[in-house]
Amino acid sequence: MYARIIGTGSYLPERVVHNADLAKIMDTSDEWIRERTGIERRHYAAEGQTTVDLAEQAARRAIAAAGLNPGDIDLIVFGTTTPDLVFPNAGAMLQARLGCTGGPAFSVEAACSSFIYALSVAEKFVRLGEAKRALVVGAETLTRITDFTDRTTAVLFADGAGAVVLAPSEEPGIISTHLHADGSYQHLLYCTGGISKGYEPGTGNRAVIRMAGRETFKVAVTMLGNSVEEALAKNKLAKSAVNWLVPHQANIRIIQAVAKKLDMPMERVILTVQEHGNTSAASVPLALDTGVRDGRIKQGDLVLLEAFGGGFTWGSALVRM
Ligand code: ACO
Repeated sequence: MYARIIGTGSYLPERVVHNADLAKIMDTSDEWIRERTGIERRHYAAEGQTTVDLAEQAARRAIAAAGLNPGDIDLIVFGTTTPDLVFPNAGAMLQARLGCTGGPAFSVEAACSSFIYALSVAEKFVRLGEAKRALVVGAETLTRITDFTDRTTAVLFADGAGAVVLAPSEEPGIISTHLHADGSYQHLLYCTGGISKGYEPGTGNRAVIRMAGRETFKVAVTMLGNSVEEALAKNKLAKSAVNWLVPHQANIRIIQAVAKKLDMPMERVILTVQEHGNTSAASVPLALDTGVRDGRIKQGDLVLLEAFGGGFTWGSALVRM
């Protein structure tokens, strides 16, 4: 038995912020942001609009694409680093919105890798027969933990949501997932505030992202390269077998480096970073949904998903659509 993706959905909040808008409030430029990151614009949640609000839109679209009703969902695994509240968990809050109460609903927190982690957990429930219609979500309101006085991170992060629905299938499906973490790198990318630890001095009692960009970049390229090679080796597949690379959308240069390692032309990479910047847990399902809805990713295609984030955490998933 396998778990198969039977529907995808995504949602970006209405407010669009262009590079030029950021250049008005900090010492940066459209040229620098495009050249160094590939980002052209991003979407910000409205005041009061939360991660679960964004997730609900994406989830309803994924459920509709699967030809199901919200009440059919019997498991929710919600990847996020910016939950609405400490508890109830974001999965349980989404479950109430969708009116599919009763089954398990929980969140998985692994920064930008949260969706890959959530997918890996949910597919095991489905494969083992413990869930029949699983909703896997990646959603974030990263602007709530963005330091707009720090140009080295503020230009990167944004808000959004993506979701997929999994169902059991005798054909693959999610072929394999590969998760990793190395907590010894936590000082290179972290959030300055938390419930138990409190706030860092000088942050005005705000939890904000801190990142050593250059160092993170190098580790990301190495680990993501290893992770996609691991997925292929595990399944004895040649690089040429992969139809589409759906990478975490953090930086076009990281994406190009991983594509090069796979000998993959950029025409076979789903690239959405220019449209929405780094939306952390949301970025992989956002890109996947984009590729499915515009008709590039077709049923039967072999798709390689990958992500890297704070922790450090990283991982990949090989998926037959
Ligand atoms: N506008 C203009 N100049 C800037 C900006 C900006 N927004 N930000 C930095 N600069 C300057 C720097 O001060 C530096 O100037 P200097 O040379 O005078 O010191 C120069 O630009 C180059 O800075 P670098 O940090 O070396 O730039 P780099 O090319 O490494 O790009 C970036 C920075 C985009 C952050 C890149 O390192 C990166 O993408 N890192 C990885 C991000 C990532 O993948 N994170 C993991 C996921 S995120 C998560 O999990 C939450």
